[in-house]
Amino acid sequence: MATKLTWYGHATLGLETGGYCLLVDPFFSGNPAAAITATQAAADYILITHGHGDHVGDTVAIAKRTGAIAISNFEIANWLEKQGVEVHAQHLGGGFKHPFGYLKLTLALHGSALPDGTYGGNPAGFLLTTNDGKKIYLAGDTGLFGDMKLIGEEGLDLAVIPIGDNFTMGPDDALRAVKFLQPKHVIPIHFNTFGLISQDAEAWSKQVHAATGTQVHILKPGESYTLA
Ligand code: NI
Ligand code: MN
Repeated sequence: MATKLTWYGHATLGLETGGYCLLVDPFFSGNPAAAITATQAAADYILITHGHGDHVGDTVAIAKRTGAIAISNFEIANWLEKQGVEVHAQHLGGGFKHPFGYLKLTLALHGSALPDGTYGGNPAGFLLTTNDGKKIYLAGDTGLFGDMKLIGEEGLDLAVIPIGDNFTMGPDDALRAVKFLQPKHVIPIHFNTFGLISQDAEAWSKQVHAATGTQVHILKPGESYTLA
């Protein structure tokens, strides 16, 4: 049972695992890098790392169209529920066994205000243990933090981390993050959406390969990587 990850541009990901379709940070409308439109996106569950507009994105419209359950921190889940979305609230450090796997919310160093100014709680990352035991860490928007070492101790098969700089880790700190996390595979995201976060992912990949045992997979928006 493989898990297929598709990068739709910016921080938007699709994960197909165990027959379930997960959509992460579904930012399609207004996303210059988006590979598909919000109306084309499939989802059984929508995972939202934090409240910023480029992450909450099209959650409400997609959830209402697909009937997907939104999973996020308590504050964001409440905000979505008030708009008619079915939700499952969790919080930092807390895990839950969903039908698609065990999902834990991890720390992230960032902000989380919602688009209308509502308090969005603390930002998060996700640590997913798939039903076949694969560990996938989605860092969300974050700066480098030392407790990534603790996340790495879980034994990661795949990490998806930002490298765009300015709003999140840049390439140098993302390399240090790979050293802390020690994943078997890493995919860089949250770069090249717009000029402020343009990065040379190929150059970063060479640095990671020279300094660590981690395999880098650079996707273009719309491309997939399958974790077997
Ligand atoms: Ni953000
Ligand atoms: Mn962002």
